Amino acid sequence: MNPQSIKRSLFAALFFIAASTSLFAQKFEELAQTPPMGWNSWNTFQTNIDEPLLKGMVDTYVSSGMRDAGYTYFVLDDGWMAMERDKDGNLVADPKKFPNGMKAFADYVHSKGLKFGIYNCAGTKTCAGYPGTRGYEYQDARLYASWGVDYLKFDWCNSEGINAREAYTTMSKAIRAAGRPMIFSLCEWGQNQPWKWASGVGQLWRSTGDIWAGFEKNLSKGSWTALSVLTILDKQDSIRQYAGPGHWNDPDMLEVGNGMKYNEDKAHFSLWCMLAAPLMAGNDLRKMSDETKSILTNKEVIAIDQDALGIEGFRFYSFDGLEIFIKPLANNELAVCFLNRSNHPQTVTYNWKDHAVNDAISKTNIDFNKTTYKLRDLWAKKDLGTTDKVFRQVIGADDVVMVRLGK
Ligand code: GLA
Repeated sequence: MNPQSIKRSLFAALFFIAASTSLFAQKFEELAQTPPMGWNSWNTFQTNIDEPLLKGMVDTYVSSGMRDAGYTYFVLDDGWMAMERDKDGNLVADPKKFPNGMKAFADYVHSKGLKFGIYNCAGTKTCAGYPGTRGYEYQDARLYASWGVDYLKFDWCNSEGINAREAYTTMSKAIRAAGRPMIFSLCEWGQNQPWKWASGVGQLWRSTGDIWAGFEKNLSKGSWTALSVLTILDKQDSIRQYAGPGHWNDPDMLEVGNGMKYNEDKAHFSLWCMLAAPLMAGNDLRKMSDETKSILTNKEVIAIDQDALGIEGFRFYSFDGLEIFIKPLANNELAVCFLNRSNHPQTVTYNWKDHAVNDAISKTNIDFNKTTYKLRDLWAKKDLGTTDKVFRQVIGADDVVMVRLGK
């Protein structure tokens, strides 16, 4: 090679490296511009997962219309691993549960047009006692990338003495170094105020402890307490300014279809959408009732969650068990959710013109004396007239009415 062509090859190689690095950087930056949507194995199955069961779930994900409604990720939670790493320190899928290995399962998920997610923990062991990632961050990230993982949920058990910000930052760097864009879901239960530092580390962070399928009351699990939908809801108000495209507060996965009443499931789903929460279904899709399906696949309600502005809604009014949540949307539209958390039906009589909406975080200022909006009831799926008219509806106990205000 003459000096001229060496120069040219060098230049081409440098150009290639620069272009691919910036392409990867760009791909990482584009992740989760709206809250991630998917399904996770934990809420129904805990560690009782295996390939035949999960393949059935993947098939139903598609045939039930979940994929078409916008759900994309299929995430395996705790319990997918063998109890020990192999002789080279690599994690291994449990050979009994996944006889064909994890790459084959990831390929199956991808073949159905879905993205594949997996779970591990920043500590020495996962919450269920499987090998944790501590000390193996780069090795594990490379393994996940080689399997085609698109999403990593990273837990916080057995992490005594570790600094959360450092541990999650190390894993975040490891994922980037492995080169495959993956959503990074921090799961340290809001203990170290991740909303203050995790934007840029991952795309979502849990804001509280674990949810259970209860609407009002928490559930004692002995050494810890599982939180109800309303308990989690009440912990979100003060952190909404930290959420936005690419970085979301995560009030935990959905319990829709896991034992609550229809109205409670509907309220839970509506409120999570008002919060711009990640929507990770956690029910047995193969046994989903028509009611459950109608909740999880209500595209007009999902559109509130997925609105491009990415503003987390807020509690606008609260009196005597009746609450009003407002979520500013793109194009100066609004979502409004009336929640009745009392134990008896209540009649809402609401004159829009008496209540201007002013929200400093989204810079929303609406005076209904100056602007008239059309109202759309998102559960009844019907138009309700305009904000020039007083809104009146009876709302059942632990139920919601959710409307979209459009032009
Ligand atoms: C923690 C997490 C849950 C789940 C379990 C798995 O409790 O918060 O979401 O991942 O661990 O063991």
